[in-house]
Amino acid sequence: MSLKQSALVALVAAMGAQAQVFTVNCAPLTQFRGDPIVSPGVLSSHVHAIVGGTAFSLSTTPAQARAATATTCDKILDNSNYWQPQLYHQRRDGQFELVTFQGSLKATYYIARACDYAPGRQNCNGAPLPIAPPAGLKMLVGDLNRRTFNASSFEDRAISHVCLDTEPVPDTNGFPTRQCQRVRAETFFQSCWDGVNLDSANHKDHVAFPAIGDYNTGVCPQSHPKAILSVFYEFFYDTGAIQNFNRFVYATGDATGYSLHADYFQGWKDQNALNNAIATCTGPNGVLDRGCSLNVGPNGTPGSSGPQKLQTPAPTENIGLNGPLAALPGNNPIH
Ligand SMILES: *[C@@H]1O[C@H](CO)[C@@H](O)[C@H](O)[C@H]1NC(C)=O
Repeated sequence: MSLKQSALVALVAAMGAQAQVFTVNCAPLTQFRGDPIVSPGVLSSHVHAIVGGTAFSLSTTPAQARAATATTCDKILDNSNYWQPQLYHQRRDGQFELVTFQGSLKATYYIARACDYAPGRQNCNGAPLPIAPPAGLKMLVGDLNRRTFNASSFEDRAISHVCLDTEPVPDTNGFPTRQCQRVRAETFFQSCWDGVNLDSANHKDHVAFPAIGDYNTGVCPQSHPKAILSVFYEFFYDTGAIQNFNRFVYATGDATGYSLHADYFQGWKDQNALNNAIATCTGPNGVLDRGCSLNVGPNGTPGSSGPQKLQTPAPTENIGLNGPLAALPGNNPIH
């Protein structure tokens, strides 16, 4: 168990039986240069690793996402899409090997960590719980052009990596500098919303980090007064299979890891069920509790994760699934 997971478990234990968190666990969906938030209708500059609803395409709309015929996630109601840049290994001869993406099987978290702005409010003790992210919300955390780290910046601290080996290893914001059995790429989204806009020109200005607290907890600013459930991704890669390890690079051409970013495309089929999940799915049996609003799948389960076919085939491009590449897709130089 990682330090972060231990911390989460400790936090949950401290809060008692009513843990204010549920997870969505998703198998990989696809990997290609698609990003319907930042680059709708055209190829993205870099390859993404994508999980979630099968309506994902270059130009998915929220309505299309909600109407997806299936999801790779274990909550049948969750047709959202979640994505990050794809991880590659750059060999000593300069070529790029795609690292096997294992999905977010454990897990994408929805956590009650922030609270609404109120005049004079200094902490979230006794404050109402956050609402669910609104239907159709699009947001982006992290910056594909980032190559350095600023410890005072919440956005920089909201991205991190864990090198998973037999012993737990502390998180690093940049890439692990050695081979690991698995790498977990983590992104913690903004927990505060302006209450109005589902997107903005840079896909960030309509959301914000807490004003009092930290990047992952606290009181929202007056400009973005509505606290929403915090969304936190853990994407896993099978880095143990790499031969003759040299260094990690992201599909952006980044060898530092600081360009890790993530996109959130809210496509839940039932907003009421999502709104009620913290109240009804975090009891002793979690999502298997009879009253859990997400527990509407077959055989009394919330659903199950597994591979699914995209409804619109991915663009034809060699992203490295059949062997090493001389250049990253999109010809992104290491910079
Ligand atoms: C680091 O981040 C803080 C907080 O966002 C900001 O005020 C400061 O200017 C940043 N420093 C640099 C060198 O960019």
